[in-house]
Amino acid sequence: MTAQIIDGKKVSQHILTQLTQELQKRQTHKLRQPCLAVVLLGDDPASAVYVRNKQRACESIGIKSCQHLLPASTTEAELLRLIDAMNTDDTIDGILIQLPLPAHIDSEHVLERILPDKDVDGFHPYNLGRLVVKKPLLRPCTPKGIMTLLSYYGVNPEGKKAVVVGASNIVGRPQALELLLAKATVTICHSATRHLAEEVAGADILVVGVGIPHFIQAEWIKPGAVVIDVGINRLPDGQLCGDVDFEGARQRAGMITPVPGGVGPMTIASLMENTLKAAVLHDKADDLSVVANPL
Ligand code: GUN
Repeated sequence: MTAQIIDGKKVSQHILTQLTQELQKRQTHKLRQPCLAVVLLGDDPASAVYVRNKQRACESIGIKSCQHLLPASTTEAELLRLIDAMNTDDTIDGILIQLPLPAHIDSEHVLERILPDKDVDGFHPYNLGRLVVKKPLLRPCTPKGIMTLLSYYGVNPEGKKAVVVGASNIVGRPQALELLLAKATVTICHSATRHLAEEVAGADILVVGVGIPHFIQAEWIKPGAVVIDVGINRLPDGQLCGDVDFEGARQRAGMITPVPGGVGPMTIASLMENTLKAAVLHDKADDLSVVANPL
């Protein structure tokens, strides 16, 4: 069997086109242009590329973006002051702090400082909690993008065995909650998991986000499985690759995401969706029922 390739670039373009139309409608109705504020500390080249791609996506669909490119030596207190200022700035709808942050900064403390209704990354404990209680509001972008991809390709997780490899706050944990919400039977594997190959072999839907090139061997994969590779790893020769042995896995899987061009563009498309959603929440900020009755 040769797997169908799940084309994240194509699906993300489709979403961005829809968003462009919605943003044009807002303009017609004299509603504010949404604005995303992005903060990057330090000069990590990969983070700089991600931030640039987010800015380009904003520009391409009609969302304003403002960037704070700060030195790696920025203190936690300075970063918290900036977040406080952005929280109270009515012209800003979404706040994104690019991760990872330098080691001297407590990321959780920083992420908790963002107002939950401006938390377009969906990393605030409030937004993660909303997902836990089956009432998601702003949903973490990568898992949200993966659910959009599954839906686009007609993969319904209900009743399926889903295995998530990696238990990070950004990907693995919220991904497991999304799949659970979609009625899959979910297993989360992590560094202490025994018999990983056996767990992976049970997966109808496999999502991998560990950041280790070719970590998942092709022969572990259940024939016909849907394989979603979140990894973006740079090999010594400069090439990008995922966490799954793609060439081997595509001979066994039913569907598979490539790297690049799979999950990556979907993360950005979901961020744009969240930013529009945050702007709509702010439009309705006078209406206290908005928290009880999310969009
Ligand atoms: N670093 C890697 N992925 C992400 C993401 O989705 N959001 C942010 N803010 N930082 C990241």
